[in-house]
Amino acid sequence: MLSKPRLVAEVGSALALGALRPSEYTAALIQVLRGNRRLVEGASVLEIGSGSGVVLAALGELGAASLCGIDIEEDAVASGMLLLHELGHGEVAELHQGDMWRPVAERRFGLVVANLPHFPMNDAAVPGRRMTWSAGGADGRRLLDPFLEGLPQHLALDGAAFITHNAFVGIERSRSILEPSGLALRIVDTTLVNLPEEKLARMSSSVLAVEEGRSIFRYGPYIFAEMHVVEICAAEKLG
Ligand SMILES: C[S@@+](CC[C@H](N)C(=O)[O-])C[C@H]1O[C@@H](n2cnc3c(N)ncnc32)[C@H](O)[C@@H]1O
Repeated sequence: MLSKPRLVAEVGSALALGALRPSEYTAALIQVLRGNRRLVEGASVLEIGSGSGVVLAALGELGAASLCGIDIEEDAVASGMLLLHELGHGEVAELHQGDMWRPVAERRFGLVVANLPHFPMNDAAVPGRRMTWSAGGADGRRLLDPFLEGLPQHLALDGAAFITHNAFVGIERSRSILEPSGLALRIVDTTLVNLPEEKLARMSSSVLAVEEGRSIFRYGPYIFAEMHVVEICAAEKLG
């Protein structure tokens, strides 16, 4: 765990800020969280895959009581911690380098957020990003499934989770993973994101074949895809 900031000089050139830059997914998630300030105020927050730390920073600004982040990349933990300290949230922040739920094995949180790598492609780095940024395996669900399976053990009973969810990786499958634990999901926002050529070239062809015209739209050389922000909480709360 990194609970104190290191000097930028210590983090040094390993700090790949460019690779951690926020995306359209990050923006959509922050926008939804800003619209749910009531759920954020006073909440103990966990973000899986915290990257630059900007989502945690936004949640700190919205009044979260504590901010816990996990990322598999050491650089992300270092730069996230710097950002949170710079913005005055260092005292309530803890960032862990680790895999998915492992660093918070026995803990529950009032608000869980995630913008996971869940693009349907086998391990390959999109130029300008690390492989761990987007690649979700052939069906895009390599991290999404364990995230949803672990969520019931880490979400407070009256808690809520908000995640980004590509429309082309099977929202119904996500629903059915949650159902046995009494959790339900609803789509709270849908937006079109640009699919740049370098990403499309790496996309699983089986997914593209099924989803083109359904959730992926091509206008000449320009391609867009639907992405949801999804809220997850106890089924009885969603009614
Ligand atoms: C799409 S990026 C999102 C980053 C940031 N939350 C944002 O919205 O800008 C996904 C993040 O998940 C991290 N990640 C990938 N695999 C992970 C794993 N197994 N456990 C924890 N974090 C992981 C990546 O390093 C990356 O920072």
